[in-house]
Amino acid sequence: MDPAGPAGAGLRRLLLALCCALAAAGAKVLPPPSNLDFSFVQICTLNWTWTAPENVSSSCDLEYSSDIVINEVPQDKRKWSKSPFRVTDTFLNEEMRFKVRSECKYDNTSEPSRWVETSVPPKGIPGTAAVDLDCVWHNLEYMACKWLAGKNARSGTKYTLFYWYDGLKSPEKCNNYSIHEGIFECIFNLTFPKVTNTYPTISILIKDDSEEIRPVCASKNPTTLVKPATPKAVTLSKINDEIHLEWSKSDTIPASCLEYEVEYHTGDMGTTWTIEGQHNHISVSAVDPNTKYTFKVRAKPKSACYSSKLSSDWSEEKSIGEKPDSTFYFVLIITIPLIVAVSTIILLFYLKRLKILILPPIPDPREILKRMFGEQNEDSQSGTKDDSVNAYNRLIKEEEIHSLVLTEPLECSYSENEKR
Ligand SMILES: *[C@@H]1O[C@H](CO)[C@@H](O)[C@H](O)[C@H]1NC(C)=O
Ligand SMILES: *[C@@H]1O[C@H](CO)[C@@H](O)[C@H](O)[C@H]1NC(C)=O
Ligand SMILES: *[C@@H]1O[C@H](CO)[C@@H](O)[C@H](O)[C@H]1NC(C)=O
Ligand SMILES: *[C@@H]1O[C@H](CO)[C@@H](O)[C@H](O)[C@H]1NC(C)=O
Ligand SMILES: *[C@@H]1O[C@H](CO)[C@@H](O)[C@H](O)[C@H]1NC(C)=O
Repeated sequence: MDPAGPAGAGLRRLLLALCCALAAAGAKVLPPPSNLDFSFVQICTLNWTWTAPENVSSSCDLEYSSDIVINEVPQDKRKWSKSPFRVTDTFLNEEMRFKVRSECKYDNTSEPSRWVETSVPPKGIPGTAAVDLDCVWHNLEYMACKWLAGKNARSGTKYTLFYWYDGLKSPEKCNNYSIHEGIFECIFNLTFPKVTNTYPTISILIKDDSEEIRPVCASKNPTTLVKPATPKAVTLSKINDEIHLEWSKSDTIPASCLEYEVEYHTGDMGTTWTIEGQHNHISVSAVDPNTKYTFKVRAKPKSACYSSKLSSDWSEEKSIGEKPDSTFYFVLIITIPLIVAVSTIILLFYLKRLKILILPPIPDPREILKRMFGEQNEDSQSGTKDDSVNAYNRLIKEEEIHSLVLTEPLECSYSENEKR
């Protein structure tokens, strides 16, 4: 892995020349580190290692300066270390180059060595890595990550998500998968026993078993991804001209780490107001007693606890207010029986006309009647074969239906009176 290998001789000669030139000027160029190599510590973490240069004077306070270049772009992640290794994140879907040199710190009599470099070339076909990875940590309970397939990935590519964080023995595979309209999603439990505001960085690796799909790594700071659960059990009450709204507390996020936003409006499309609150209840005073008020609430993480800007979803809407409610029920109570009655009358009317049309050409109307009234006619058939008797039965039945139609609305309004 030492790039100094083939070009080593030329470089050494150049260095020697430089060395002599600087020596003449009073400065000495340090020898570079050697045997630069890397190994994976975790799914998305590399340990870059090298060996110390020889023949460094004891007066030199030797340190290594290292930096990262990704796709030829310097990342400005310069770091000094006294130990001959550095641990970094890796992305795997882009070429990552690591460079290191030796320096004598606080010593202006020697020059830093040349840079020694090595790189991790990406595997797989370009453009096949998962893209647009987006993760949300729901209620400090589970992480839901979504992504899209790379534009060059075959359709039917099965990406697999692995995750790891400091505290897990080994990387875990995410098993709860779904694909919906081209969006991949995987959900994994992520809970920590202690309530804290600092959580370990989560490393996420998405890859495929096939060699052609390029893997991709991402590091996520979970506190930036906290999304509180939707407030539930919203209850509304009204005392005089004050409305009181209350909802359930979170059982995972400390109360001191959440604030709430309540939005309410009057009527169906009335003015909208927003109230911010620190507790799981609010009161609105001096409300109009004849107006319907509709409320919804959502929870937001406090910036003192989490650097997340993700609000919960809005709770379901709850309404309070006398007049519009009662008119609504009034309309419902009047219209439903009316519709039932009218449609029954229309049905009977057509049934009658149908009978007039059908009866004359058929010699034995019993068959038709049997079909029309089904079993109900069976008992009356057994005794008599007379058509007039059947017609009489028919008449009775129709009357029964009519009287039913007439009594129905009465019954409904009666039961309604009972409720009030
Ligand atoms: C990286 O490698 C060095 C040298 O082998 C070792 O001392 C160090 O502990 C390693 N670091 C990690 C985080 O594994
Ligand atoms: C280090 O110094 C020793 C003795 O002075 C010499 O034999 C050796 O070649 C030097 N090594 C390098 C890498 O310059
Ligand atoms: C090194 O630094 C010291 C003070 O920081 C200065 O006096 C001296 O001239 C410097 N020497 C060289 C060679 O630059
Ligand atoms: C998998 O995810 C769904 C939500 O998409 C969730 O309801 C279910 O409990 C999860 N299963 C497991 C085993 O975590
Ligand atoms: C995640 O947690 C839920 C409840 O805490 C549990 O039912 C489920 O089995 C867990 N899923 C996994 C994959 O551990």
